[in-house]
Amino acid sequence: MRKAKRDGICDNIFRERWSPRSLSGELISDNDFLKILDAARFAPSSFNEQEWRFVWAKKPNWINLFELLAPPNQEWCKDASHLVLVCARSNYSRNNKPNRVASFDAGLSVQNMLLQASILGIVGHAMGGFDVELARKNLKIPEQYEVLIMIAFGVYKEGDESPSDRKKLEEIAREREFTFDG
Ligand SMILES: Cc1cc2nc3c(=O)[nH]c(=O)nc-3n(C[C@H](O)[C@H](O)[C@H](O)COP(=O)(O)O)c2cc1C
Repeated sequence: MRKAKRDGICDNIFRERWSPRSLSGELISDNDFLKILDAARFAPSSFNEQEWRFVWAKKPNWINLFELLAPPNQEWCKDASHLVLVCARSNYSRNNKPNRVASFDAGLSVQNMLLQASILGIVGHAMGGFDVELARKNLKIPEQYEVLIMIAFGVYKEGDESPSDRKKLEEIAREREFTFDG
C-alpha cells in the first residue's frame, strides 16, 4: 500500500496511515484479519471495561453488513475484503452505571485496528455513513449497546487519491489556556 507522506515530527506509523477508497477487490488473509481484530484488545479503556464489541463479515458472505452502508460507501466498499461493525456497551458491567467514555474507548480500539492494518500494508477505512437503526434491528444489537461505526478493510489499488491534509499543531494544541478562536 502506498504510504501517506505528511509533515510532522511523530513516528512514521502515525503519518503513513491513511484511508484510501481505491481497493483491488482481493481478499486479505484470515491470519492478517485476525491480527487486526486482535490489536483492538490492547486498547486502553476506562476501568479496563473493554466495552467494544465487533461484528465482522468477509466477502462474499457479508450482505448483512454491506446492505447497511450508505450508497456512496457501498460504491467503493464493494471492492473491500472485510467489514466490521463497531459497538460499545453504554453502561459499566461492574455497576451498570452510565459509561460516559464508552464511545471514546471504542474509538481507541478502532485506531489500534487501523494502525495494525497500516503496519500490514492493508487499507482500513472507518465509516459513519450507514444505517444505524437498521444495523440494530437486523443484527439484533441490544439497547445497552451503542452502534458506532463500520470499518472496511481491503487491499490497496494504486489510484489518483491523495492522503488528506492535517491542521498545524498550533491550531489544535495550546499551552495552559483555551485560546482558540471559534
Ligand atoms: C468516525 C468516522 C467516520 C467516517 N465516515 C466515513 C464515511 O462514511 N465514508 C468515508 O468514505 N470515509 C469516512 N471516514 C474517513 C474520513 O473521511 C478520513 O479518516 C479523514 O478524511 C482523514 O483522512 P485519513 O484517514 O486518510 O487520514 C470516516 C472517519 C471516521 C473517523
